[in-house]
Amino acid sequence: MDRDKRDEGAEPDPNEELLRLARGIRGHVKRRKRLGGALPGEVGTPGPAAKPAGPASGAGAKPPPAAGRPTAPLPTPKPGRPGARSEPRPTVGEGPARDAADVKAQAAAARDLDEVRRGVAQCTACELCATRTNTVFLDGKGHSGLMFVGEAPGAEEDKTGVPFVGRAGQLLTDIVTKGMGLDRRDVWIANVLKCRPPENRDPTPDEKATCTPWLDRQIELLEPRILVPLGRHASMHVLGITAAMNAMRGRVHTIAGRPVVPTFHPAYLLRNPADKKECWKDIQVAMQTAGIPIPKREAGPGSAP
Ligand code: URA
Ligand code: SF4
Repeated sequence: MDRDKRDEGAEPDPNEELLRLARGIRGHVKRRKRLGGALPGEVGTPGPAAKPAGPASGAGAKPPPAAGRPTAPLPTPKPGRPGARSEPRPTVGEGPARDAADVKAQAAAARDLDEVRRGVAQCTACELCATRTNTVFLDGKGHSGLMFVGEAPGAEEDKTGVPFVGRAGQLLTDIVTKGMGLDRRDVWIANVLKCRPPENRDPTPDEKATCTPWLDRQIELLEPRILVPLGRHASMHVLGITAAMNAMRGRVHTIAGRPVVPTFHPAYLLRNPADKKECWKDIQVAMQTAGIPIPKREAGPGSAP
């Protein structure tokens, strides 16, 4: 058949017409497979031309339907990235606290003082664990209801595992026994840090932030009637402020409904004995506030231990 005839309205050959239709259908199916689904414009498939009903933007605009969109795969957690642990944090007894979040979790979950003590004994959450000999947790039975909080263990405390047993500790023991007229066991003694900083350097902000959930849980469980933080580091932590020692001491604060009477650290008093008098005033205020009887002969000014 020549083209002129066809173009001018000749009857189509039915066989050719069928072949053309079949080729068209095959092409359609192939394109559909390539695009992974229905073609634009087909029923139920929003193609680029299919607009969602309603306003496209502005207040009250609905997001376009998500049907037919490929779903982005969920991100896979990267193994080995610090802090990106998906497994539950170890409880006391399951493993050591290895970072600040572990300390928080273990301290919060500790049901009694022994669990806190065991958590501290295993703790590797800061670098001080590498140089300690012993952790230093607590001394005393606290019959008086008064709790002293020091800064951090020194050499003697690191060796023995008992707080305040070195030179500064001897002065604290004198304050308790000769000044307050109590047995050392009648007060509780703990520290902000449970491990000794090398060379007795100051605790770093990171070390304090990491370790203090242990102390906070200790205080929660012991429920002392009064807290006497010793020195600037302990006072700032207990009061939750940054301030100079002289701005904090000399009065009764109330923290979480509990009286707090900050005073000088015994190590400071060894270097500045003239301030013992001031310390003794603070201790008497603390005793009075907690209802601990002040021994008569020690009550006068200038009778500091
Ligand atoms: N100084 C402290 O602050 N704590 C101790 O346990 C000993 C010395
Ligand atoms: Fe753990 Fe505190 Fe010792 Fe650091 S100082 S290892 S946080 S117990």
